[in-house]
This record gives sequence, C-alpha cells and structure tokens, in this order.
Amino acid sequence: MSYVLQTHRLSKRYGNKLAVENINMNIRQGDIYGFLGQNGAGKTTTLRMIMGLIRPTAGEIDWFGSSSTAGRNETMARIGGIIEYPGFYLNLSAADNLEVHRRLMGMGNKESIDEVLASVGLLGARNQRVKEYSLGMKQRLGIARSLLHHPEFLVLDEPTNGLDPAGIKEVRQLFLDLARQRGITFLISSHLLGEIEQLATRVGIVHGGRLLEEVDYEVLQRKSRRYLEIRVGDDKRAAYILEQRLGVSDYLVAAPGVLRLYEMLDEPSKVNRTLTGEGIAVEEIKRAGDSLEDYFLKLTGGDPLV
Ligand SMILES: Nc1ncnc2c1ncn2[C@@H]1O[C@H](COP(=O)(O)OP(=O)(O)OP(=O)(O)O)[C@@H](O)[C@H]1O
Ligand SMILES: [Mg+2]
Repeated sequence: MSYVLQTHRLSKRYGNKLAVENINMNIRQGDIYGFLGQNGAGKTTTLRMIMGLIRPTAGEIDWFGSSSTAGRNETMARIGGIIEYPGFYLNLSAADNLEVHRRLMGMGNKESIDEVLASVGLLGARNQRVKEYSLGMKQRLGIARSLLHHPEFLVLDEPTNGLDPAGIKEVRQLFLDLARQRGITFLISSHLLGEIEQLATRVGIVHGGRLLEEVDYEVLQRKSRRYLEIRVGDDKRAAYILEQRLGVSDYLVAAPGVLRLYEMLDEPSKVNRTLTGEGIAVEEIKRAGDSLEDYFLKLTGGDPLV
C-alpha cells in the first residue's frame, strides 16, 4: 500500500480548547479523500497543519511513505493546495495572475500557464480580467494555480463553498478528470454529505476535533444501505422465488427466516404478492437499514452535518 499522507495523533490546541485531537489519517495514492465534518469540526485546522501553515501541538505527519527522508521543500514541491480563499490581482488577467505566481515561486515555464488553464477549462478566458470572473471561474483559477508545479497531491479546503449547483458540478467533474487523467491524489474537505457522496473514494468523518471514522466509500455505502426486510417461513424457497419470478440477485439471509432484499425498495407489495402467490407465508415486510445520512447522524451523536 502506497500512502501519500499519514498523520499520527495529530493535535492542535488553542488555549485550553483542543481544536484537533489525535487524528490518524491514512491517504493512499489515487484516493479522493473526502474530509467530512460540520462547521467547527476541525477541518481547516487539520488541513493547515498538513500544509505546514500552522504547527501541530502534538503528533506527526508522514509524507509519501514513512521511510521517506525527503526534506520539507522537496515534499512541498510534490503537493499543492488551497486553504481558505485564493487571492488574485483582480485587475490582471487570469494568465497574468498565473505568470506573477510562476515567477514568484520560480517554477515551471511560460507554456505551463496555458496548459493548466486548459486543464481547468479556462483557456478561452485566459485574457479576461479576474474581476470579471464568476466565483466558479475563480475557484477553477485557484485550482489551475495550484497545478502549476505539477503536484501529485492536492489539498483543498471546501473548494465548492459559495458555488451554485452548476458550478459545483463543474468543479466536481474537474477533480474527477484530474484524478483519472493525471493520477492526482486529493484531500478535499466539505460539510456537505451529498458532495462527498458523489466524489470521494475514501471518507474521513471529523467531529469535535476527532476522526470518528475513516473508511472506503464502498464500505460506507454497504454499511448504510437500505433494504426490504422480509420475514417468511421458508427463507430458501422464498429466495428462490424472488430470484426466479422477480429476477433479483442482491439479497442475503440475515437470520433464519429473515431475508434482506437490497432491491425493489419501492415495491414491497409486489414482493409480497409474488411470495404469497407461491404459497409462502409472509409474516412481515418492511423497509429497514440506514440512509447514509442516518448513518452519519448516529455517528455524530445526532448532530446534523449541515
Ligand atoms: N486561530 C484559532 N484560535 C482559536 N480557536 C480556533 C482557531 N482556529 C480554529 N479555532 C477553533 O477550532 C475549532 C475548529 O475550527 P476549524 O476552523 O478547524 O473548523 P472547520 O471544520 O474548518 O469549520 P468550518 O466548516 O466552519 O470551516 C473551532 O472550534 C474553532 O473555533
Ligand atoms: Mg473550515
């Protein structure tokens, strides 16, 4: 397993308040890691420590495998990010803004500017002043700037904050493209479950400064799936009938006489009719299980995410 980033008991104290407490995060190469938590959970504080903007009170950060002995500059050259708001010279064009940044940081060549603008879909607007950019365009320009030095890992703090649904969709697609086409690993924070749902391959849930759970997205989905719970006399025959008559395959026998059917959630009466029509005694049929949202609610002790 090749890790891009691991934190060990990472903590930050402000006065007598622990903003971040013993966070152990494991981000693998190729992950789109969704760092999910409500306002004040500790997302920005964690990302700022990771980016070296503030010093942890305790704990360690390992980059690119714990055996790495690379120095800080070498590591920073492989990562990029936007924490909080990206600032631009509003009276300069997008391309000029990137050129200023490129020279300031002493990196890349002039051609890389159009290359990164193209990769975020802003090549056509390269000469437009940033003043005239929409929020979504500015957000994409910020991402373009963070790509200038060809990082392998991008850290983005709530990158879709303030965007409208179309802008959110655009930026999400951009992340997916960058992940697929360039193999960039992402750490993206958000307080929106729906957003993480559509993007992340791995999810870390932070609450009250602690990482409550870190899990691959598929595992999370399975944990939180809804199903029809069907209580019958003969589970084997019932399962056979469901397969034959309704063509279902996604089910399991949870206990003797108890089937969990992960399909046909909207058609319990059809399931019931089919089974009783074949002489199966259906004692009970009901929807059960958690939605992803219920699952998070339980995890965070009932506090809604948003
Ligand atoms: N510089 C600071 N001084 C004192 N307390 C701070 C400081 N920065 C953050 N905190 C506190 O630490 C906790 C975590 O804040 P943080 O900004 O990391 O949360 P967040 O998850 O990014 O929230 P949001 O969704 O609102 O951006 C909060 O209680 C906050 O008040
Ligand atoms: Mg924040």
